[in-house]
Amino acid sequence: MWTCPHCRLALLASADGAALACASGHTFDRAREGYVHLLPANRKRSAEPGDNPLMVAARRRVHDAGTYQPLADALVATLSGLPVGAGILDLGCGEGYYTDALVRAFAGSPVYAVDISRAAVRLAAKRCAAAEFAVASAYQLPLPDASLDVVVRVFAPSDDAEVVRVLKSGGCYLEIVPAPRHLWQLRATLYDNPRENAAPRSALSGMQLISQQSVQYEVTPDPGLLMDIVAMTPFAYRGHREKRKRLEGATLPALNMDFSLRLFEK
Ligand SMILES: C[S@@+](CC[C@H](N)C(=O)[O-])C[C@H]1O[C@@H](n2cnc3c(N)ncnc32)[C@H](O)[C@@H]1O
Ligand SMILES: [Zn+2]
Repeated sequence: MWTCPHCRLALLASADGAALACASGHTFDRAREGYVHLLPANRKRSAEPGDNPLMVAARRRVHDAGTYQPLADALVATLSGLPVGAGILDLGCGEGYYTDALVRAFAGSPVYAVDISRAAVRLAAKRCAAAEFAVASAYQLPLPDASLDVVVRVFAPSDDAEVVRVLKSGGCYLEIVPAPRHLWQLRATLYDNPRENAAPRSALSGMQLISQQSVQYEVTPDPGLLMDIVAMTPFAYRGHREKRKRLEGATLPALNMDFSLRLFEK
């Protein structure tokens, strides 16, 4: 299913499965963990783009603690009943928490996942051998036009035109973003003038909004989990250092978890 990032031709597996190649002769080795690296060096903005290994490890611990389980359940419930036989893409998959939920829920349908962070994809591929992972940019997806039934994006950057391009006609796009006051108690502790997240959008060129939902609950993290929640988010670098120190060993009141899920159809 992957296409060549240089010439966009289909990539086919070698006889032993250890590499992929296009008809123009571009080849890509499969890593030990099973993923392929399809991000050409000249399209990287830094040596190791995307989330770094510390952020990825923190995100894995937060997920393993069940902190985002209600959201994963809502994601699966929103997609259930939709056609998925042609495949689902998890865009900006991180360490693969939602990819894994998709594989479990839609066994038998192909699940693809991309992220620009090699550290994230490596960990994700180890967690979830049943999905196909690639290190690639959401802004240039290594997938053919009109090839997928569903694209899912959870808190990751994306390009609308690319999402529309890879979806089949009638295919669905599930966009999950933090609601305006997600993790508000944390923002209020870290910033003098905490700002709300942007309101979720309801219009997108080339697609139609077909349903929307919010998922809200509270979590009371222990101090270690709290620091991991900070480490896995942009708070880690935007928060003032002294304020972050205040969080160490602190017990905050319950945190608001607040998400918006919007389902669009092409
Ligand atoms: C907030 S994390 C969310 C990860 C995952 N969806 C989750 O919820 O656990 C954002 C992810 O987007 C990835 N990312 C950033 N820029 C990207 C790009 N241009 N293309 C693909 N992924 C990107 C980061 O590496 C990171 O894993
Ligand atoms: Zn090629």
